[in-house]
Amino acid sequence: MDHFLYRDGALYAEDVPVSEIAAQVGTPFYVYSAATLTRHFRLFDEALDGIDHLVCYAMKAASNLAIVKLLGDLGAGMDVVSGGEYARARAAGVPGERIVFSGVGKTREEMRAALTGGIRQFNVESEPELEALNAVALDLGTRAPITIRVNPDVDAKTHAKIATGKSENKFGIPIAKARAAYAQAAAMKGIEVVGIDVHIGSQLTELAPFRAAYEKVAELTQQLRADGHNIRRLDLGGGLGIPYTRSNEAPPLPTDYGAMVKEVLGDLGCEIEIEPGRLIAGNAGLLVSSVIYVKEGEGRDFLILDAAMNDLIRPAMYDAHHDIVPVNEAAPGALPARYDIVGPVCESGDTFAKGRDMPALAPNELVAFRSAGAYGAVMASEYNSRPLIPEVLVMGDHFAVIRERPSLEEMLNRDSIPVWL
Ligand code: LLP
Repeated sequence: MDHFLYRDGALYAEDVPVSEIAAQVGTPFYVYSAATLTRHFRLFDEALDGIDHLVCYAMKAASNLAIVKLLGDLGAGMDVVSGGEYARARAAGVPGERIVFSGVGKTREEMRAALTGGIRQFNVESEPELEALNAVALDLGTRAPITIRVNPDVDAKTHAKIATGKSENKFGIPIAKARAAYAQAAAMKGIEVVGIDVHIGSQLTELAPFRAAYEKVAELTQQLRADGHNIRRLDLGGGLGIPYTRSNEAPPLPTDYGAMVKEVLGDLGCEIEIEPGRLIAGNAGLLVSSVIYVKEGEGRDFLILDAAMNDLIRPAMYDAHHDIVPVNEAAPGALPARYDIVGPVCESGDTFAKGRDMPALAPNELVAFRSAGAYGAVMASEYNSRPLIPEVLVMGDHFAVIRERPSLEEMLNRDSIPVWL
């Protein structure tokens, strides 16, 4: 459920007409609903009621400081994957003890910054990383709390570009080698083993792959405890999928997921961490865009928008589907139309949808891409020298620009021409 609903034919973000934001901010822009973000965080938090847990929002999904602060103030922890995300979490007021650091390529500088600023744990993904972290921690005269991310060799049954739990993927240490890696970690003076981490992929629409992975983690927990390790935390990653269309079968709900987690892992006496990103932010955001032209092609009509693949790359990158709806619902009797919906970027890949049925639209009319809150703004680029688009947060009947649209001058001023040119 989200808070983007029609009232009298006009699309609202909570209690604010989307067209009003467009009039003030200009298009294209992203808009997020605070109520939806809050609701989705609470769904997860409540799904794990009765078990010691921390929901660590995967900031990579949408990392605007205002979003991070909103979730942090609700009690969320953060899953970060770079020094930049770590800095954002801290700037948004999230204490270090609620931040977990994931990622296959943490640099020594990033480790140092997190160890100095405060960190809950590093999710270590390789033996060389373990050695580097040990060295950095010893140098700082401290011990780094860690889990080891294990690769359970489970098929997440999702898009190949976002599956991470198969042995051919770059992520984690093969589960068969985990005991050796933990033995190595336990012998390091700068390392403190606190648990196990696993993350098998994103946009999972079934519970079975999660269950398969978590059963392996449960077994490993027993083995590692028998080996003498104090396994007290299990980080289960993120990955629960969201509905991208209104018609398709709904993925499992956080409550189903939570019940399964308790069933498989509840008896181990471990604190549970989860790292959802998409489910919290995905359906909490829209991308709003205007029609520039309607162009008649050969056997098809093109709806040319002012948003492009640089603003929302998911359709070009993963063939992802986003529902695209008119901001002002068509009057009854309006002509139906079928469009290829495209942006202005000079690549055929800049296509958001093909053969989409919707009411006929005219230039300057507004459309909204649903489910654009996660992996939307964060994956944007300035390709074709199109400045990054603004982000807006709505709460009740007010809204705020949480990232301004840079002027062309600001964009140009980041470059410099060497004096010798
Ligand atoms: N934890 C780790 C270690 C991850 O790598 C990810 C996502 C998450 C948590 C959050 O997963 P989520 O709950 O959002 O599924 N750009 C792609 C998605 C990439 C996901 C990468 N890792 C897309 O637009 O579909």
